[in-house]
Amino acid sequence: MINVAIIIGSTRPGRNGEAVARWIHDLAAERDDARFELVDLKDFGLPHLDEAMPPAMGRYDLPHTRKWADKIASFDAYVFVTPEYNHSISGALKDAIDFLYGEWHNKAAGFVGYGSLGGARAVEHLRLIMGELKVAGVGAQVALFLSSDFENFSTFNPAAHQTRAATAMLDEVVAWGGALKELRAGGAPAHT
Ligand SMILES: Cc1cc2nc3c(=O)[nH]c(=O)nc-3n(C[C@H](O)[C@H](O)[C@H](O)COP(=O)(O)O)c2cc1C
Repeated sequence: MINVAIIIGSTRPGRNGEAVARWIHDLAAERDDARFELVDLKDFGLPHLDEAMPPAMGRYDLPHTRKWADKIASFDAYVFVTPEYNHSISGALKDAIDFLYGEWHNKAAGFVGYGSLGGARAVEHLRLIMGELKVAGVGAQVALFLSSDFENFSTFNPAAHQTRAATAMLDEVVAWGGALKELRAGGAPAHT
């Protein structure tokens, strides 16, 4: 059984991201093929990257980095729930990703974007970032539109087809997350 994090990529007061992430978590909780946990960036209070050594060195001096590293290392796969800010992900999510290195390697990820065009441009950026960190992004993707999956652009009320999209994404995350767990167990190079 693999462990999957559902990461809330927005820290803004009044954020839409929390309702989206809770919806994904509720859908995931009905499954028995993986364990799912909500991971809220707000709970980690990460500042802008303030480690002296680059994360690729694997030496973390600060308690907030170690706490974040331990949490991310404990998962086999991730579901990123990301807003779109200026056609990319939030600065908070980018910084949180940049803090770590080997903890991300050889794992799987699914993407849930939301915005005026389903967060599509943010997810495209995030896929590139994940590629650099050896995270395999699955193809099935959830694209939530502020105009049709939210009331007044703020109350989350997803269209029925979005549940099918989320289920397809979770199916792929669990399948790839399991395959990559075996790859890591077999000694895949993790820190090159
Ligand atoms: C700084 C900022 C930039 C934004 N830029 C975009 C954008 O480029 N494209 C888009 O579709 N929505 C954009 N939006 C609207 C967000 O998609 C919308 O506010 C969404 O609810 C943000 O997620 P959050 O509420 O979880 O923070 C932007 C919002 C903010 C706060």
